[in-house]
Amino acid sequence: MKRLLVAGVMVASVFAGSGPVLAEPVDDTLEIDGMPIITRTKAPEGHPFDEVLSGWLFREAETRDVERETIENPGMIAVEDGETMWNTVEGTEGKSCASCHNDAAETMKGVGARFPKWDADSKKPINIELQINKCRTEQMGAEALAFNKGGQQELTAYIKHQSLGMPVELDLTEGDMQSWWEKGKDVYYTRTGQLNLACASCHETAMGKFIRADHLSQGQVNGFPTYRLKSGLTSLHQRFRGCIRDTRAEQPKAFSDDLMALETYVTWRGTGLSVETPSVRQ
Ligand code: HEC
Ligand code: HEC
Repeated sequence: MKRLLVAGVMVASVFAGSGPVLAEPVDDTLEIDGMPIITRTKAPEGHPFDEVLSGWLFREAETRDVERETIENPGMIAVEDGETMWNTVEGTEGKSCASCHNDAAETMKGVGARFPKWDADSKKPINIELQINKCRTEQMGAEALAFNKGGQQELTAYIKHQSLGMPVELDLTEGDMQSWWEKGKDVYYTRTGQLNLACASCHETAMGKFIRADHLSQGQVNGFPTYRLKSGLTSLHQRFRGCIRDTRAEQPKAFSDDLMALETYVTWRGTGLSVETPSVRQ
């Protein structure tokens, strides 16, 4: 009820121009263990903004500081758990991820910056979570992991972390990636739920405004899975579903066509930002 009320106030402010004040993202730079991280860059052609901004720039100083040193970052525990999974033999073939892919620091470097990508077998975009399942079922004789279960987030965080600092760059020329991008764009701009809000209502129109204590960012995905100080490790589709729930709309299933299209489109909206996984947010 409280959420509905607060969001209602925000809707009024978005469309009537009163209420929460606009606050600029901070003028700050991020280095993680001394490695420069791109948190602000020129937007690609056709982007609604001139500049693409990481969610890091919208967080409080204390939250930003936690991301500067991996040793301080509580999300790194998940990355370590993911590393253990990488080396664990599972399934009827007696293999681990490492049996085929060896040292992830070499073989997975850059991979997380290029996903989701076209998967010719399923004729759909595939993200890291689904690629893990593909390798488990087709290469290891192991069961697919259910959404957010069995270490799915941890292994995803481990793989994405191998691309820390590398700029996000999708290949939309492969297969039907372009039409999934279009579909994702439709989802992004479609108003849903009792509050009649689209992703764009908050992360584009109201970007920079406050909703409760939350400074609204561009809703970028470059830090996922992310570590939320109030609730721990959070996967991307969990975040999408949470934001959709806040509009009081029915939540699409994780890895559904709608959310895969959205992941494709929203990842493109963050083109050029560094992978920050595991980013730290409030
Ligand atoms: C028996 C060998 C084998 C095992 C074991 C295996 N994979 Fe794979 N993996 C492949 C092959 C072959 C491909 C490329 C074809 C494809 O996409 O399925 C691949 C592709 C990938 C990719 C995409 C790489 C890119 O450049 O786009 C990722 C990520 C990945 N695997 C992760 C994993 C993880 C995580 C595990 C353990 C859960 C695992 N793999 C286990 C053989 C394997
Ligand atoms: C009612 C407003 C609202 C709507 C509508 C909304 N979000 Fe959010 N979203 C938030 C708030 C608040 C946060 C946390 C603060 C921030 O980063 O903006 C957030 C955070 C996010 C983040 C994490 C950003 C980061 O840096 O970690 C992503 C990704 C995101 N939203 C995507 C979406 C998508 C995609 C949609 C549409 C399906 C959507 N949001 C709809 C309010 C909203």
